[in-house]
Amino acid sequence: MINKEIEKKLNKQINLEFWSSQLYLSMSAYFSDRGLPGFAHWMYIQYEEEITHAMKFFNYLIERGGKVTLAPIASVNTDWASTIDVFMETQTHEKEVTERIYQLADAAIANRDHATQSMLQWFIDEQVEEEANVKAIIDTLNLVQDNGYAIYGLDKELATRVFVDSTQAVP
Ligand SMILES: [Fe+2]
Ligand SMILES: [Fe+2]
Repeated sequence: MINKEIEKKLNKQINLEFWSSQLYLSMSAYFSDRGLPGFAHWMYIQYEEEITHAMKFFNYLIERGGKVTLAPIASVNTDWASTIDVFMETQTHEKEVTERIYQLADAAIANRDHATQSMLQWFIDEQVEEEANVKAIIDTLNLVQDNGYAIYGLDKELATRVFVDSTQAVP
């Protein structure tokens, strides 16, 4: 059976991953409204990915004999001042998620919960990629500033992103 403290923290993480999915879905809607379908598509895939993260924690907790307790999802922003603002909030949020996963890993180590520690390694690696992806877009946005033609090109590029459920990937 899973330790109660770890169970509580995993439930909090499920809520955070669902909150992340709501945040990115809201950002997707914002970009659709601004006439940037590629940016909207990229954020929609972020939304889909976060659902798979929540479900990975959900299924893991059940597998370990723990109880999943769903809680209300807090409201998310619905408006931003600019495109770069959206990605700055994304970056701040992903850094916070990384910190929360590290805290979970610390708790797993302190409780000698090697199974949870092993499961969390996937998320630790995933966060490296999440932060790198967001940084790459911020770097490009800083480079092109408000050049409409460049934003148009970037929108076309972001439209090509393909959803992959990497939680199901065979290692
Ligand atoms: Fe996530
Ligand atoms: Fe994420």
